[in-house]
Amino acid sequence: MSAESLIARNFASAEIPQQLSSKPFLAALPELTAAAEESYDYCLSYTNGALSLDALKDEALTGVCSNFLTPAMQRRLRQPFKQQLLGKALGLKAQRMQRILDATAGLGTDAFLMAASGCEVTAIERSPLVFALLEDALLRAQLTGGSFAVIASRLTLQQDDFLSLDARQHQYDTVYLDPMFPAGRRKASAKKAMTLLQQILPAEDCPEQLLSHGLKCADKRVVVKRGRRSPPLAAREPSLQCKGSTNRFDVYLP
Ligand SMILES: C[S@@+](CC[C@H](N)C(=O)[O-])C[C@H]1O[C@@H](n2cnc3c(N)ncnc32)[C@H](O)[C@@H]1O
Repeated sequence: MSAESLIARNFASAEIPQQLSSKPFLAALPELTAAAEESYDYCLSYTNGALSLDALKDEALTGVCSNFLTPAMQRRLRQPFKQQLLGKALGLKAQRMQRILDATAGLGTDAFLMAASGCEVTAIERSPLVFALLEDALLRAQLTGGSFAVIASRLTLQQDDFLSLDARQHQYDTVYLDPMFPAGRRKASAKKAMTLLQQILPAEDCPEQLLSHGLKCADKRVVVKRGRRSPPLAAREPSLQCKGSTNRFDVYLP
C-alpha cells in the first residue's frame, strides 16, 4: 500500500473551494472517524482557512501546508532575486522574461519566487496530495489580491508526471529540477514540511530520465538544486555551479 492511501480527511464544516481542481481527489479521501483513527497515518484538514496535513502518529509533524503569505516568504521576496543563488543559476536578464518549467513543484516555494522575479512559471507536481496543498496556497494568494495576485497570475499549476510530458509540445527557456531525496540528506533542522514529504513521497528513482527529459524540454538551460556536498544528479557533471552554504545549483546547457 502506498503512503498516500493511508491518508484521511477531516474537513468538519469546511467546504472544499470550488476553484480547486483537486476537489474530486479531496472528496474521495476517507473521512477520519474516532473509531478508524488508528488505521491512518496522515490527515488533511482545513486549519485557519488553509488546507494542511498532519502526521497522526507524530505530534511534531502537524500543520504542514503550502503558504506564500508567510513573513518568511515576504522577507525572501524583498531580497533582489537576481542576486540570490537561484536567480544567478537561472541567468535572468533584465530585458527578457523567461519561461520556466518547474518540473518538481513540491510546495511551490521556488516556483513562487521565480514567478515573483517576473518569470512565467509552469509548475508540475506528480503527487495529487502535494498538488492539492500547492493549489490551495495559490488560490489563497490569488484571493489576497495586490502583489500576491500579480505573482500568482504568472504561475500555472499542472498535476502530472513531468516524464510524461511530450517534449515536442513543451518547450521552455529553462527547466528547473529539485527532486526528492531520501530522509537524512537534510540536517535535523530540516523544515518539518520536507520531513513530512520525505515520509510520504518516494525518493527519486530515475534521476537520469529526469535530467535527460529536462534537457529535451529546455531551450537554454536546466537548473538542478542539490545539497552543497551531494554528487551531481545522475552523476553527470554540470556546465557550471552556483554554490551556497547549504545548497548548490547545477546548471546544464543543452
Ligand atoms: C523536493 S520537492 C520540491 C520542492 C520545491 N522546489 C519547493 O520549493 O517547494 C520535490 C517534488 O517533486 C515531485 N516530483 C518528483 N518527481 C516528479 C516528476 N517526475 N514529475 C512531477 N513531480 C515530481 C515530488 O512529488 C515532490 O513533491
